Amino acid sequence: MASPKTHYVCSECGASSAKWLGRCPSCSAWNTLVETVAESGGAAKNRYQSLARSQPVATLSEIEAKDFDRTPTSLEELDRVLGGGIVTGGVVLIGGDPGIGKSTLLLQAVDALSRQMKVLYVTGEESGAQVAMRSRRLGLDGSQVRVLAEIGLEKILATIEVEAPDFCVIDSIQTLYSEQLSSAPGSVAQVRECAAQLTRTAKATGCAMVLVGHVTKEGALAGPRVLEHIVDTVLYFEGDTHSSYRLVRAIKNRFGAVNEIGVFAMTEKGLKGVTNPSAIFLSTHGEPVPGSCVLVTLEGTRPLLVELQALVDGGGPSPRRLSVGLDRDRLAMLLAVLHRHAGVATMDQDVFVNAVGGVRITEPAADLAVLLAIQSSLRGKALPKGFIAFGEVGLAGEVRPAPRGQERLKEAAKLGFSVAVVPQANAPKKPINGLTVHAVARIEDAIEILRGM
Ligand code: TYD
Ligand code: MG
Repeated sequence: MASPKTHYVCSECGASSAKWLGRCPSCSAWNTLVETVAESGGAAKNRYQSLARSQPVATLSEIEAKDFDRTPTSLEELDRVLGGGIVTGGVVLIGGDPGIGKSTLLLQAVDALSRQMKVLYVTGEESGAQVAMRSRRLGLDGSQVRVLAEIGLEKILATIEVEAPDFCVIDSIQTLYSEQLSSAPGSVAQVRECAAQLTRTAKATGCAMVLVGHVTKEGALAGPRVLEHIVDTVLYFEGDTHSSYRLVRAIKNRFGAVNEIGVFAMTEKGLKGVTNPSAIFLSTHGEPVPGSCVLVTLEGTRPLLVELQALVDGGGPSPRRLSVGLDRDRLAMLLAVLHRHAGVATMDQDVFVNAVGGVRITEPAADLAVLLAIQSSLRGKALPKGFIAFGEVGLAGEVRPAPRGQERLKEAAKLGFSVAVVPQANAPKKPINGLTVHAVARIEDAIEILRGM
């Protein structure tokens, strides 16, 4: 095969150049030229043909809305984030830190699916022997799982054609290279080209695919963000590698809800689903300690109780604000609100906050619990036993309601929590058994209640 020519395209403005340049001659942006396969008009047209087949114009109501053909993986927590199972021709990108358990989870999924369909596991990072060893260790039968240790994209595509699998895992996309490009495996150009080719194959053959991707130091999927819109579903694996719990979160899903999470525990026999995860992120203090406040957060469809910890300590001339699992800019904003509206000053203090268990909390409903933990640490006085809080805090000092407040309160009551500080609009209409609820409209009211406890 004659190797097709490549050229360099600016990722900012789209200008092309025959050779690589540090600066785009057209828009003058630095370091934006990326190697791309040069295609004739015909080839370029073919490229996306199978992504969406051309059809005559039709009225929406006349188009048959058939549900996607889903196959459950029999890993219940994985199915939950996928929206019910893998979809024919669907492409899933799964990202996460090294060592978090991506290969383990996918090997388990491939093994379970091999009982119902033809599966292929392509490994570019490990040898076949290593995969076999892991499979033995996991106690998997693995007899029907076909394994290919290969990093050449063209060879992989040829194998897919011959083997005709219904489900294929590529572990990982960063190790693949296409002969059409001269850039190294893992470069933006290679990752993008390989993902596009594999996606096209998935759509054309109906083979469901999972691409494993690595995460950069900045926390984004390595390679371009373009990967995220090529694929149908993007999942992130998160959690603290030092604890045994792992969360799989859907960031994008064309076949189901986003922000649904699956919870797993890493055991000696691989990842096991945790079906009732609401209490796993609580640390176990015998007696309440200062600087700790339990938040009821809502992840996807299930409430989770997460302990937030704050430490406020005398700082130097430029005090530090650090957060783990929470947004640092938001912390700075909350501290300003706390000072301005509740008169609690932390200007000369270092403030550290942490969400226990390596969870990442993105919803603003965590605000109130963060502020109460900070206030508790500042006073050196623990919150009462069985205390929970949630609610968003605005710049004007108002406490705004959190979605589905009743569900959060009920879950907390079920787990034996007895005191809650919540936004006014989330106050329950009927009293909840065993739970005393203080409804507040402003942050100063919440701080006032705390002082009286
Ligand atoms: P792995 O799936 O190789 O991670 P990734 O593919 O995301 O890089 O996960 C490996 C880690 O999980 C490793 O540190 C060992 C641990 N582990 C277990 O604790 N139990 C097991 O049964 C297996 C297979 C791995
Ligand atoms: Mg791996």
